[in-house]
Amino acid sequence: MGYRVVVVGATGNVGREMLNILDERQFPIDEIAVLASRRSLGTEVSFGDKTLKTQDLDTFDFTGWDMALFAVGSDATKVYAPKSAAAGCVVIDNSSLYRYDPDVPLIVPEVNADAVHGYSKKNIIANPNCSTAQMVVALKPLHDRAKIKRVVVSTYQSVSGAGKEGIDELWDQTKSIYNPTDDKPPKKFTKQIAFNVIPHIDVFMEDGSTKEEWKMVAETKKIVDTSIKVTATCVRVPVFVGHSEAINIEFEDFLDEDEARDILREAPGVMVIDKREDGGYVSPAECVGDYATFISRIRQDSTIDNGINLWCVSDNLRKGAALNAVQIAETLGREVLKKG
Ligand SMILES: NC(=O)c1ccc[n+]([C@@H]2O[C@H](COP(=O)([O-])OP(=O)(O)OC[C@H]3O[C@@H](n4cnc5c(N)ncnc54)[C@H](OP(=O)(O)O)[C@@H]3O)[C@@H](O)[C@H]2O)c1
Repeated sequence: MGYRVVVVGATGNVGREMLNILDERQFPIDEIAVLASRRSLGTEVSFGDKTLKTQDLDTFDFTGWDMALFAVGSDATKVYAPKSAAAGCVVIDNSSLYRYDPDVPLIVPEVNADAVHGYSKKNIIANPNCSTAQMVVALKPLHDRAKIKRVVVSTYQSVSGAGKEGIDELWDQTKSIYNPTDDKPPKKFTKQIAFNVIPHIDVFMEDGSTKEEWKMVAETKKIVDTSIKVTATCVRVPVFVGHSEAINIEFEDFLDEDEARDILREAPGVMVIDKREDGGYVSPAECVGDYATFISRIRQDSTIDNGINLWCVSDNLRKGAALNAVQIAETLGREVLKKG
């Protein structure tokens, strides 16, 4: 016996990827429903070799369904996630709405799978921000060995992190640069994204940081350890899929770069590609479609006592969203619901 699973936001980037990953990992499914807004009613989406027609989220009855994987943004989540949870269908949510709620576990299964047991307070589990998910997979095994004091991270985030509209804007603007009569001014992003980089993701906070940067701070604390200090600069770059991060880590104890490399080689969800030669590292174009978080450029930071620098790349639609959500569903199934 398997699960009755709902994918909410099935026409979006994350929703489509969740369907691919549920199929690839042969998640035990008895029945699946795919939902989107009324404007997409009847739109066809692929699930393995099957084609499914989307239903309207607004009229869907969650009663009798086991889990709902949500990828619709905070506004729609606010309306529909409580309906699913109240009907007994556990929500695994990709939006930021519930991430900081003390009654909702925020989970990256390689790091804090045990937190799944806290799901029952609200029948909701949150998936972290894409940049946080890949970073904590790398931080956790190093923290267990040498205790992290402080992290300084700069991100290079792809446009797919801003949904379908982000991808379309980079595509259209890139073409328009070669055709001066076809002006494509910024709409989704605040400045031109084609052939440019933008040091601004999500809204500004009072202290001058952005919400995206704040999320990396708050979520790392909630998932790994409240004692870890994080300072982040989040930047949008003209890459379609794949987020990159330059991470500087300061530890309590000394950690040699070779030992850090060995620890990361053994860490779940991590793939180390780290040769000190041309091309001996991973770039975002190479991580698309993969499950792993790739770590390269591991080296000592000689400017502080106990410091390591590294480069971290992952498919933001997979580990940053859809894969992590499906891994949470697998954990929920294995540890709690126990069907399949
Ligand atoms: N992209 C990433 O890297 C990433 C990473 C982590 C988390 N997330 C989060 O995941 C969520 C989805 O992101 P995405 O990139 O997949 O966005 P997207 O490509 O723009 O897709 C949005 C989806 O939500 C549906 N939707 C929007 N408003 C709705 C409503 N009122 N009722 C029903 N369905 C509605 C859309 O349906 P229609 O097609 O019918 O409009 C579509 O299926 C967001 O919360 C985002 O913050 C994304």
